[in-house]
Amino acid sequence: MKIQPGFKVAIPITFIFCGLASGCKGVPTPTLTPTLAPLPTLTPSPTVPAWDNLALTPPMGWNSFNHFGCNVDETVIQEIADSMVSSGMQAAGYRYVNLDDCWMAPKRDAGGSLQADPKKFPSGIKAFADYVHAKGLKLGIYLDRGTKTCGGYPGSYGHEIQDANLLASWEVDFLKYDNCSPVGNFVTDYQKMSSALKATGRPILFSMCTWGFPGYWVIGSDVGHMWRTTSDIQDNWPRMLIILDANNVYASFAGPGHWNDPDMLEVGNGGMSDLEYQSHFTMWAIMAAPLIAGNDLRSMSQAIRDILTAPEVIAVDQDVLGIQGTRISATAASDKPEIWSKTLSGVNARAVVLFNRSEAAVDMTVSWSDLGLPSGAAAVRDLWNRTDRGIFQDRFTANVPPHGVVFIKVVSGGGNIPSITPA
Ligand code: GLA
Repeated sequence: MKIQPGFKVAIPITFIFCGLASGCKGVPTPTLTPTLAPLPTLTPSPTVPAWDNLALTPPMGWNSFNHFGCNVDETVIQEIADSMVSSGMQAAGYRYVNLDDCWMAPKRDAGGSLQADPKKFPSGIKAFADYVHAKGLKLGIYLDRGTKTCGGYPGSYGHEIQDANLLASWEVDFLKYDNCSPVGNFVTDYQKMSSALKATGRPILFSMCTWGFPGYWVIGSDVGHMWRTTSDIQDNWPRMLIILDANNVYASFAGPGHWNDPDMLEVGNGGMSDLEYQSHFTMWAIMAAPLIAGNDLRSMSQAIRDILTAPEVIAVDQDVLGIQGTRISATAASDKPEIWSKTLSGVNARAVVLFNRSEAAVDMTVSWSDLGLPSGAAAVRDLWNRTDRGIFQDRFTANVPPHGVVFIKVVSGGGNIPSITPA
């Protein structure tokens, strides 16, 4: 395949286009000025209950499990909260510091209340909530709908109201509710905790760790803000692809306030190359997935930091339309190159991934017609490099490295010469 003609910003675009399109006299030169993409600011509607405003765009934060497993304690997590700020993660949009399994003492207290492990968290969870809140961050915590958490700590079955009230009293902002050791009904258990959280009056984001799409009962209801569509991710390329393919199927169910969750990010945990982590992050962004980092923020490399904080990639994830992008090329779950597209806010705008799952570099072409865009001129911006690629007629071709991506924003001129702003 051959690269289609494209024009760099430096070239007098109006002049060139007058040779390609009729009637272009007087049409302004396209604006292709690269600037940093601002994060979207959604103003919660005062007429909508606080619960419904909690996840208007996919939640962003950090969780302890993928890197630390059960080795969590107060010192480590405080250092992570510090690093959220000093590394630029907070400025990039990450808000939640989420404590996963194993934060509890092995037994409830005499009054039946959950308690933090006194060795791991001697200051208690409320003090830790105060610590993260003072930094402008939010605190997430983990419970389980069954009789025991996956790590063997007390489950919340039969204690839903008591546990929700405890979380509210500690000023927790986010609950991940897991699925181990169940004795009750799956739907009822998640609904019970959802109601208990709402009844506290504190806005607590409800992340349902359901290990698979929970079912149509979550659609159109306000039971939770995100639900796990898959079993656990692992820090390797084949597993990441399995999770990606599984989550793609449920795209139509995502939207502002309720997101498909293909599990937390493995970016920076060491089992994939930086290029593969860039692909992993790209695919989570085009799927409008919650971006919950899972690496050790205290010691990440500059390359990993650049991936996790890439402003124009994050802006695609956080696009206010809240549409989950999907694979638009025919192949699925294969080792072939594939094209993914996500409709963005703005007129005729798409985020597009040219994704090469194979072991060899390949030229890939996306046509505007594949994207449902009018034929003719469209502006193309490279979202990783934060540069404009230029104006292209009808299609765009790029060489994509093995296990790599080319991630672009395409804005069609709808028959006219387009202008582009960063995603
Ligand atoms: C389950 C969840 C994981 C993690 C562990 C903790 O496996 O799916 O995300 O929370 O439990 O034990």
